[in-house]
Amino acid sequence: MQTIRLQLRFLLPLIAVVIATAYLVLPLVDGVTLRWFARDLDSRGAVVANALSDSVVEAIRANRPKQLEKLFERALQDERLFAIGLCSPDGQMLVRTPAFPTELNCFDALQISSRRDPRLMLNGGPVHVAMHDVIDQPHPVAVADAASDVASAPPAAGASAADNGVAVAAAAAASEATAQTAPVTVGRLVLLHDLSFIEKRSQDTRRYLVGLIAALGLVMALITMVVAQLSWRGWVLGVRALLRGEGIISPMTGSSSATSVELQPFAADLRERLRDLEDEYRRMQGPEADWSAERLQALLMTQLRGDQVIVVSNREPYIHEHGKDGRIVVKRPASGLVTAVEPVMRACSGTWIAHGSGDADREVVDANDRVAVPPGQDDYQLRRLWLTAEEEQGYYFGFANEGLWPLCHVAHVRPVFRESDWEAYKAVNQRFADAVVAEARSEDPIVLVQDYHFALLPAMVREKLPNATILTFWHIPWPNPESFGICPWRREILQGMLGSTILGFHTRFHCKNFIETVDRFLEARIEHEHSTISFREDETLVEAYPISIEWPADATIASWPSVPEARRIVRERLGLQPDTTLAVGIDRFDYTKGILERLNAVERLLEKHAEWIGRFVFVQVAAPTRSSLEEYKNFQERVERLTLRINERFGRPGYQPVHLLAQHHDSHAVNELLRAADMCIVTSLHDGMNLVSKEFVAARDDEQGVLILSRFAGAAREMTEALIVNPYHVEETADALHRAATMPAAEQRARMASLRATVREFNVFRWAGRMLTDAGRWRLKARVDARVARYRHAGDPDQRGL
Ligand code: G6P
Repeated sequence: MQTIRLQLRFLLPLIAVVIATAYLVLPLVDGVTLRWFARDLDSRGAVVANALSDSVVEAIRANRPKQLEKLFERALQDERLFAIGLCSPDGQMLVRTPAFPTELNCFDALQISSRRDPRLMLNGGPVHVAMHDVIDQPHPVAVADAASDVASAPPAAGASAADNGVAVAAAAAASEATAQTAPVTVGRLVLLHDLSFIEKRSQDTRRYLVGLIAALGLVMALITMVVAQLSWRGWVLGVRALLRGEGIISPMTGSSSATSVELQPFAADLRERLRDLEDEYRRMQGPEADWSAERLQALLMTQLRGDQVIVVSNREPYIHEHGKDGRIVVKRPASGLVTAVEPVMRACSGTWIAHGSGDADREVVDANDRVAVPPGQDDYQLRRLWLTAEEEQGYYFGFANEGLWPLCHVAHVRPVFRESDWEAYKAVNQRFADAVVAEARSEDPIVLVQDYHFALLPAMVREKLPNATILTFWHIPWPNPESFGICPWRREILQGMLGSTILGFHTRFHCKNFIETVDRFLEARIEHEHSTISFREDETLVEAYPISIEWPADATIASWPSVPEARRIVRERLGLQPDTTLAVGIDRFDYTKGILERLNAVERLLEKHAEWIGRFVFVQVAAPTRSSLEEYKNFQERVERLTLRINERFGRPGYQPVHLLAQHHDSHAVNELLRAADMCIVTSLHDGMNLVSKEFVAARDDEQGVLILSRFAGAAREMTEALIVNPYHVEETADALHRAATMPAAEQRARMASLRATVREFNVFRWAGRMLTDAGRWRLKARVDARVARYRHAGDPDQRGL
């Protein structure tokens, strides 16, 4: 493609030059040929006139116009001579052949013949007009007879042969009067040459010239193309070869020349400098522009040179399960991690390695346990890993969800650490690390490690792929060192995480907690200014990257039901009055989400503001999660009991203040609820970010609805226009509910518009883009360090080559 473009760059100007030449040259050549032929005709005319001269003089002397006519007719046998006329010295037309135009008199003929272009247009075509004097040389007197031919009047226009006779007699008399002593001009021959043959010749010449110029142009174009092709190919091959470190490639043979070894250092330098320049250029473009899937793709292709992206998470983005009718259905899990990472993966392609947890998962994978997803779009590969029940119990339910989850959330649930769970956690981390290594197509892939299920995996991958760029994102909070210190394997966990190139948390606060934890438990060098930790050979950047959602596309928004429609559908489905004020909470059924606290607040609202009884309804969607764990079972029971109590206390026939929907809702149903609601309640006791708050805002293109948000959710730092509450403070939360329910539409609009602008800008592509940009910068730094080390090694202390 590039070659074709290059050739066109040569060819187009060439074609333009050829056309311009043709335009300039043709009229010139035309003019020259015409003049050429005109001159030729003039000289031919002179010859004819000379040849006729004596006979004409004789005929005039003898006063024989008939003889003149015959003479002229004979002369006309020359195919190019069209007509002949004879003018008297004083400008009278004496004789003319039949084709001679009657409208052409002697004066006009004289005028035309003396022009530069003596052409006259007749009906039959153009003629060339030339005049030649007929000279009577001194000679013995000849006596004219034929007195009958004598006449005194000049011929009028359109004169016949008889008329010619009268005029010739007059000319003869004039001749007689002056004869014998000096040459006398007795008349002027007007020769009209047919020019149509010249036109034809000129056309032939033009055609020939156009052909010639086109042929020349074509030959030149071909030569240019071949030369350009050869030199371009040569350059491309050469530069490519240099960039691959193979030396110069001959454009003719395509093979590496013998000088490649000497050129290798130069090639490596060139390659690195080109990359540095490109990175610099990308950085200059700045982070200001909006982040989108396309921008993320472009970033991957440039700064990260299209390197392979591998995601590792426990939860898979698509779960295949057997439906009630036995058919396989695809489910999207309720997981903030999946909500955020899936759109990024759709943009980046690559491979996502996750636990295959669906009961039909094995039925849809190929021989390598891979399936292309999203179904029907096949944007990336999902590589499933199968866990035994024991592995799942120890690694997932045990260490991850009974140990690390409560440890990091500090939500008043005691973490449980069992040795057997730890062993399973280590083993499963190793299995996933091996899968990453197996999936890697190069020695330096980009590995995106997700969450607390894989704290050990970064160091395990680093061991096998030292040049990999490992970005670990911790989706949950990081506690203070004292809280974390209760984990028996705190050092191992920290060491495992420090195998990452970049370690991301949602907030600076969590980064600070992590750095302090490392400071407390490991011998590591911490650069607070740069937020880096150097442990053993490796350096890790610890940075805050607030996660987000994909902002809905216009087409997606267009497919949603309108807000009034959604309000109607939801209220009808739940059996609510059309004017019911509806509050919604959408969470996994998890003790960190503050569901009990929000129920307490609803109860307090109805106590404090009895006017809401019968008019205010709270719908809690609680997707079942980790239900086999005791803590979760207990929590779910407590929520159910509290719900029952509130409903008993404030419920009326036809009115139930709390609706607890403890089922998985797909994204369509969730969106419908969020659009139908007057407010969304997010009261997490501790949450890394909480994406439901962002989904609520994205769902409200009508700019109505109020967000009540816990100050302990990471989202509270960005979404300051929400009503921020302390969920432990029942009174404050109940007041927030009342305020939301009575908030004027204008205030709702102002708050919502501002929240929407924030979430649209700080979307998930920005989250991934910022991490990947930092990774690119990190890789660049590593390359420069390596280069410096190389020059040092090569004994170039001045580092002139850098
Ligand atoms: C949180 C975690 C995720 C997890 C999700 C759902 O958002 O950070 O890693 O996927 O909860 O939990 P589950 O255990 O069902 O995957």
